This record gives sequence, structure tokens and C-alpha cells, in this order.
Amino acid sequence: MKRLTVPRIRSRKADGVTQEPLVMLTAYTARQAQLLDAHCDLLLVGDSLAQVIYGLPTTVPVTLEMMANHGAAVVRGSYHSVVVVDMPFGSYEASKEQAFESAAYLLKQTGAAAVKLEGGEAMAETVEFLNQRGIPVMGHVGLTPQAVNVLGGYMARGRSDAEAEKIVNDAIALDQAGAFAIVLEGVLEPIAIKATKAVSCPTIGIGASNQCDGQVLVTEDMLGMFERVPRFVKKYEDIASVIEKTVAHYAEEVRERTFPTEEQTYQPKA
Ligand code: KIV
Ligand code: NA
Repeated sequence: MKRLTVPRIRSRKADGVTQEPLVMLTAYTARQAQLLDAHCDLLLVGDSLAQVIYGLPTTVPVTLEMMANHGAAVVRGSYHSVVVVDMPFGSYEASKEQAFESAAYLLKQTGAAAVKLEGGEAMAETVEFLNQRGIPVMGHVGLTPQAVNVLGGYMARGRSDAEAEKIVNDAIALDQAGAFAIVLEGVLEPIAIKATKAVSCPTIGIGASNQCDGQVLVTEDMLGMFERVPRFVKKYEDIASVIEKTVAHYAEEVRERTFPTEEQTYQPKA
């Protein structure tokens, strides 16, 4: 299987219609990427690795080096999906030149095909600058977790008319700037419908209804690694309890000396 390309992802939405929704999940490690790759169109090396892998309270402390290391692992573990790496907070907002330098570093270090950044109209010029210089950009509007200190929390966005209008305008600005896809996070369904109709590129929803051109979730959330997850997550499995049961079993066998057995033990040749 040849790796999908950004233009092929972009063209899955033609004349405003997406026949087959785009499937995206987060991946942070090589083995995880191997397991997800054949089932996905896109793998997102999300800065959500802050909470999921590093136990950080927000995505704000994530660095370019962290994203580069995990991005490289995910590219090594995949051969089919388009790999998109999140640009971390502070690596792209100051200027379009800063953004280009950071994005180029991420593509060089990882071999990924594209980057994702948060923000709408304010980032449109940057998206165009990168795209014109060989770096495809995925946008991200609505609930933008890197702005948690401005937003004051992780609640759904667009409950006021002004906020709803801003989200749609943000999506339009990114589309016109050449974004190849746009994540809509934590927005009310009517806004997701409006934004998806208003842009020529695919929208990828997370907490944004089934009316988007694709869906994304944090893999650990949908696998049931965490007790508490946002309302928009469906837990497809209860992996945490599988891990707990398995580890308890191992611990018991070690304490009883029933592991290892003869089968796992080296003996001198007779
Ligand atoms: O970091 C992340 O995982 C994301 C997705 C949830 C869209 O940005
Ligand atoms: Na992110």
C-alpha cells in the first residue's frame, strides 16, 4: 500500500461533498502507529501527548523537540496514513517566518507530510505563507486547547451568535488561505454544519457532530485508557481495566513464584 498524500486527502471533498468520511486518530509512538495505520487516512501526532503521555495539565508546555521525537516515531511506524504533526504553543504565533522555521524543522526531523496549527483568521496569513513554501497546513478552530488561558477552560464553543459567527469565519479564512483540512473541535452541531458547507476543504470533527467531512479522536480516549473523558468521546473499549487485570495477574504469579515457569527458563544444554 502506497502512502496517501495531502492532495488526495484534500480531494476527498469534491464540489462540497465527501462520499467517504475521513478517518483520523492520534498516534504518539511507533507501535501505536503500526496498529492504527491500515484503518486510518490520517494519523495526528497531537500535542495532546502533553496530557496523555507526559501527565502535563495543558498543552502549553509542549516543545518542538517533543513533537519532533514522537512525530519521527509515528512516521517510522506507518506506511499508509498521512502523518500530521501539531505545532506546539509558542512555535508559530509570533510571525509567519517563525512558523515556517518551526514547521520546516518538524518536517525535516520527522518525515511527516503536514503540520497542524490552532487559530482562524489570525493564522490565515501564516497558513498561506507555509503552503506557498511547500508545507501543507491543517487548521484547527472552535475549542483550541492551546488558548486555554484565554478561553478559561475546555467548554464547547459557539453558544453566542458572535462566537458562532467567528468560528465559521475562522474556517472560511483558513480555507481561503489554502488549508488542506480543518479540525472543528467542541462546536455546536449547527456551527459544524455551517462551517462544513462554507469551506471547500474537508472539515474533521471532534465534538462537532457527525456532519463534518471526517472525525478524529484521541486514541487513548476512545480505547478507554482514562476514567474521565469529554462528553464527545465514545469509549469503544475499556483498555484500562484490561491492563489492570493483566498486571494484577502478573504480580500475583511473581509473588507466588508461578512465573516464570520451565517454558520461560534457560537451562544448560544436557
Ligand atoms: O492534540 C490533539 O490530539 C488534537 C486533536 C484532538 C484534534 O489536536
Ligand atoms: Na492538538
